[in-house]
Amino acid sequence: MDGGFDEARGFDAAGGFDAAGGFDAAGGFDEATAARMRANQANWDARTPVHVASEFYGLGVRRPVDWFAPFEWIDIGELDGLDVLHPQCHLGTETLAFAGRGARSTTGLDFSSAAIDQARRIAAEAGANVEYVHADVYDAVHALDGRDFDLVYTGKGSLCYLPDLQRWAGVMAELLRPGGALYVVEFHPVLNSLGPVPGPGDGPELLLRHDYLPGRGPVKRDATRTYTDGPPLSEATVVYEWPHSLGEVINALAGAGLTIRSLRETELLPWPRWESMVRADNGWWRLPDTDPRVPLMYALRAVKPG
Ligand SMILES: C[S@@+](CC[C@H](N)C(=O)[O-])C[C@H]1O[C@@H](n2cnc3c(N)ncnc32)[C@H](O)[C@@H]1O
Repeated sequence: MDGGFDEARGFDAAGGFDAAGGFDAAGGFDEATAARMRANQANWDARTPVHVASEFYGLGVRRPVDWFAPFEWIDIGELDGLDVLHPQCHLGTETLAFAGRGARSTTGLDFSSAAIDQARRIAAEAGANVEYVHADVYDAVHALDGRDFDLVYTGKGSLCYLPDLQRWAGVMAELLRPGGALYVVEFHPVLNSLGPVPGPGDGPELLLRHDYLPGRGPVKRDATRTYTDGPPLSEATVVYEWPHSLGEVINALAGAGLTIRSLRETELLPWPRWESMVRADNGWWRLPDTDPRVPLMYALRAVKPG
């Protein structure tokens, strides 16, 4: 599924944060970090047409709600009358589900202009009332003119592109109105540290092969294949990821004044990351009964005191 993505894994020799967490004194990112984020933006623009045509995203076939596990709707609750924001929405495949479940307003935001163009087209074809905003998540408060929201939903491959979680958490807190909730559903650090033995494509056994904890700076990947099917990328193949531990996420949100209401760890994944995975009762995927039960995703709900 991820076509040799792991093979390209390697630490960027020049990588890493400065002691201040990657920011310069003026409040912006230092040049090295800014350059990595620009590379990511170009990479997501290049991925977009591949993803639009992919079976993985299954546009027109896979329903928006199919991207959600049942536990997400239990945690999120009713959407009637709520203003919902989905930062890092990519094609808006998940964003559309909020509009379909009674949200008063639904807004998606992403820094890839190619993705936002496609998200607008897909929503228009579906007749869905969704507003898409082209902006960096770190600029979201300004890009959204200071609007605030009842629910901010994000994740499934989003936080790893963010170099500074404390600043991100501050933005999330500002985007919420008092009483509003942030829901983060992300790939668990355990998932990212597991790898097949002896290598990708060989052997079904999974071992801890990569760091579980962050601290070694950004991971540079150079791969022509994304996580979907489809043709290889011909340009902008480099992408940088910043691993974040659960502790880092929780401390960043608590530090931004949010109250953590729940944290789930689940063995479920929305797609089969490894060949050995089997269908779970709800249609998602899990490791077979012969493997240890380990968390592959987590879901966190944090509330802005009101
Ligand atoms: C894997 S997608 C997550 C969305 C959804 N879960 C999905 O799988 O389609 C990651 C998205 O994050 C966006 N992204 C990465 N860094 C960003 C940033 N600094 N500001 C806004 N969007 C960003 C990318 O453009 C991409 O569309």
